[in-house]
Amino acid sequence: MGYKVGIIGGDGIGPDVIREGLKVIAATGVQLDTVDYDLGGVRFLRDGTILPDSVVDEWRGLDALFLGAVGTPDVPPGVIERGLLLKMRFDLDLYVNRRPFNFPANNVDFEVIRENTEGTYAGEGGFLRKGTPHEIATQGSVNTRRGVERCVRYAFDLARERRKHCTLVHKTNVLTFAGDLWERTFNEVALEYPDVATAYNHVDAACIYFVDSPQRYDVIVTDNLFGDILTDLGGAISGGIGQASSGNLNPSRTGPSMFEPVHGSAPDITGQNKANPIAAILSGAMMLEFLGEADAAARIRAACSQPVSGSTTEVGDILAARV
Ligand code: IPM
Ligand code: MN
Repeated sequence: MGYKVGIIGGDGIGPDVIREGLKVIAATGVQLDTVDYDLGGVRFLRDGTILPDSVVDEWRGLDALFLGAVGTPDVPPGVIERGLLLKMRFDLDLYVNRRPFNFPANNVDFEVIRENTEGTYAGEGGFLRKGTPHEIATQGSVNTRRGVERCVRYAFDLARERRKHCTLVHKTNVLTFAGDLWERTFNEVALEYPDVATAYNHVDAACIYFVDSPQRYDVIVTDNLFGDILTDLGGAISGGIGQASSGNLNPSRTGPSMFEPVHGSAPDITGQNKANPIAAILSGAMMLEFLGEADAAARIRAACSQPVSGSTTEVGDILAARV
């Protein structure tokens, strides 16, 4: 019997890149028992379903979830993002969003550990006097000591397996409440890791360093929204967003973790067999590694580290042959 994996191909190019991801995983010999879930913008437009609680409960018994991309232009912003993707992250307590970047040509070899259940994503806030000239909208940032600390610990543990360097990225000079909690937590946890060197960068400066001197980074830990933005930039400096993989992890393993490419559903190129499946394939490698299949994961990564070009299906075929 293989690992039980829920598949959410989703919208646009999502199902196509996931198909190639599964093709390459199959080529490693690792067996998956997959269950397909028809969810995303298209499903929502068809019958109003986003993500029922009963489906989340079903997922709790799985080993992992593998997701392509969700979202369609005809659905208003926020509906699928909050109702599906963020609901998954919150309900399954996927508190670490791990996003590795590796592009030797640009001296890029680092990982971003993005806090994945709090910050401005938590949904705190609301409207007052909506639609009037005196309208007020607030959107708070939620930062709990526990939530921050568990991400910071994950980052230090990861740094220990890598080059033993961990950078906190925040905006402590302006966000004096949240930034203070993050900085104190980071500094206290650092005391337990005397073998890991530390650094701190403001997020705006980090944007410059990503472009000018990315070799300074090994592991970065940061808040949810900063991590969202920085990881798109990370994709841009490391061969494009078509290569950027991610794991939404529950390191406590109280349920399945979810693996997805960083990119979206790309409606502009849907159905043309030209989406780059490498981000999904590398996300599949991260899934295998998390499941304990380190050897198969390493083979997929090695296959992806050599140049490859062609259509979506051709790239999948070539990489499957290489592993
Ligand atoms: C990401 C995406 C999501 C996010 C959106 C689609 C909700 O941009 O995974 O980076 O903001 O986290
Ligand atoms: Mn993003």
